[in-house]
Amino acid sequence: MKTVNNKNHDRFLAEQIEYYRARSNEYDEWFFRQGRYDHGLELNKSWFGEIETLRRAVNSFKPSGEILELACGTGIWTQFLVQYADEITAVDASPEVINVNRARTKSPKVQYIEADLFNWQPDKKYDVVFFAFWLSHVPPERFASFWSSVEKALKPQGRVFFIDSRFEQTSTARNHILENPRDTVIKRRLNDGREFNIVKVFYENKELEDKLRDAGWKIKVENTPQYFLYGYGGGIKTV
Ligand SMILES: C[S@@+](CC[C@H](N)C(=O)[O-])C[C@H]1O[C@@H](n2cnc3c(N)ncnc32)[C@H](O)[C@@H]1O
Repeated sequence: MKTVNNKNHDRFLAEQIEYYRARSNEYDEWFFRQGRYDHGLELNKSWFGEIETLRRAVNSFKPSGEILELACGTGIWTQFLVQYADEITAVDASPEVINVNRARTKSPKVQYIEADLFNWQPDKKYDVVFFAFWLSHVPPERFASFWSSVEKALKPQGRVFFIDSRFEQTSTARNHILENPRDTVIKRRLNDGREFNIVKVFYENKELEDKLRDAGWKIKVENTPQYFLYGYGGGIKTV
């Protein structure tokens, strides 16, 4: 699907929530390279090696205190963050993924909130705001308002860590086609063949770092060799 007019992304946001609700029980197949996401020994090895790089980067960042995790999903990162946090507020629009997360994380430190992030404001401030594979689902025209909501959620000296996908065909299912890195809406399929259109914005690390700097953030954005990018730092007002 070709890039849609910027003003039109909002029409995909409900479908994006529907997609992740329907996918809750098969979401982890992507992360663990199973079924349609299995790209063979060699590429799977690279994938898991790069996941280790991400874990090391989070570890060096030393997340601590009160953490807000946006679009927490099935808990792949919640269960990792819980070892560092005093408490985590984990927000997601899908009650189904929150159930998977709760069963996996099993921690009294985590409080779950079911909410649409485009209509939600935290009622407190956090030491760290963390989001994995979420920024790419924020429509480009909502980029500025999203980051201003992140800023509002941070304490003075608060910090941000995020992870996202690079444009790479073998990062997704074999029957998902990535055509053009500038497309901002892509078609996704479930195991039963149902199709959904969702927002997916691919960033280059330098381009994103510059865009964030222009918005007042001091965030370093790095790549892993093939699959991921990750950013960490704070705002000029918060650091
Ligand atoms: C790509 S998944 C990332 C999940 C998790 N962070 C991870 O890394 O595995 C995107 C998540 O965003 C959630 N989501 C989609 N639209 C949302 C919205 N408008 N508000 C809150 N969560 C939303 C989905 O339910 C899904 O869990």
